[in-house]
Amino acid sequence: MNPDSARTALVTGANGDLGMPLAARLCEEGFGVVVAARAKDTAAAVADELTARYGGSVRPAVIDVTDPGTIEAALAAIGPVHVLVNNAGVLLTPGRRPSDADLALVERELAVNTLGAWRMAQAVLPGMFRRGWGRIVNVSSGTASFTYGLFPGTPGYTVSKAALNAITVILARDTEGTGVLVNAVNPGRVRSRMCPDAQRTPQDAARSVVALATLADDGPTGAFFRPDGEIMTW
Ligand SMILES: NC(=O)c1ccc[n+]([C@@H]2O[C@H](COP(=O)([O-])OP(=O)(O)OC[C@H]3O[C@@H](n4cnc5c(N)ncnc54)[C@H](OP(=O)(O)O)[C@@H]3O)[C@@H](O)[C@H]2O)c1
Repeated sequence: MNPDSARTALVTGANGDLGMPLAARLCEEGFGVVVAARAKDTAAAVADELTARYGGSVRPAVIDVTDPGTIEAALAAIGPVHVLVNNAGVLLTPGRRPSDADLALVERELAVNTLGAWRMAQAVLPGMFRRGWGRIVNVSSGTASFTYGLFPGTPGYTVSKAALNAITVILARDTEGTGVLVNAVNPGRVRSRMCPDAQRTPQDAARSVVALATLADDGPTGAFFRPDGEIMTW
């Protein structure tokens, strides 16, 4: 029996172009999967579709990562979460320059991409600590790599994902020795609503992301993974 079959994985933004293949991939890995979306009917539609493909271990949840009330209510209904995939994200400042980006839009990118992911992690970590096991996967971006120069053409998004990377590192330090591994992944440029002209399929990207949900207990923590599965320098 797959050791993950008794484990629950929660994906935020599971109705998105990457989110749904991520949830599907987690089903294939044997997890019980919670598909979280902002709207009840959207979450239900994703859960129905995945249940038709993979059977009865998929449950819907309503989560807006900027709204603590939705997170609290959803987690109370779901029960233990062993794997959190922080996939929800927004790109609101494409084609802008750091010198003229609308900071109201930047604030929104930070609220979803950075604080939303951090809030989700805070919500699931107490249970992970109690159980002595957990995996948190933060879907980051190549735009946020200092090594590759922090892409300036999506300024708020870049900063929000760079801050998400920082949260990954400090949460990994905070959770060291607890059985919880916290990592970030650059899924590559993925064909989606966010990036319609990209070449990489969401199904390919989902494999890279879900690999971090199934890391062995002695696997890396506080690392930034490339699309090909190698660890990259921040
Ligand atoms: N596409 C790429 O090339 C690429 C590259 C690097 C990283 N990423 C990252 O990959 C992740 C998925 O993006 P995608 O390409 O699949 O784009 P997408 O199709 O636009 O999906 C984004 C998802 O996030 C959800 N979301 C937005 N705001 C939310 C909130 N406040 N609370 C909960 N969910 C929220 C959206 O829900 P609604 O439908 O309700 O808006 C949607 O389900 C994002 O974190 C993105 O930054 C994408």
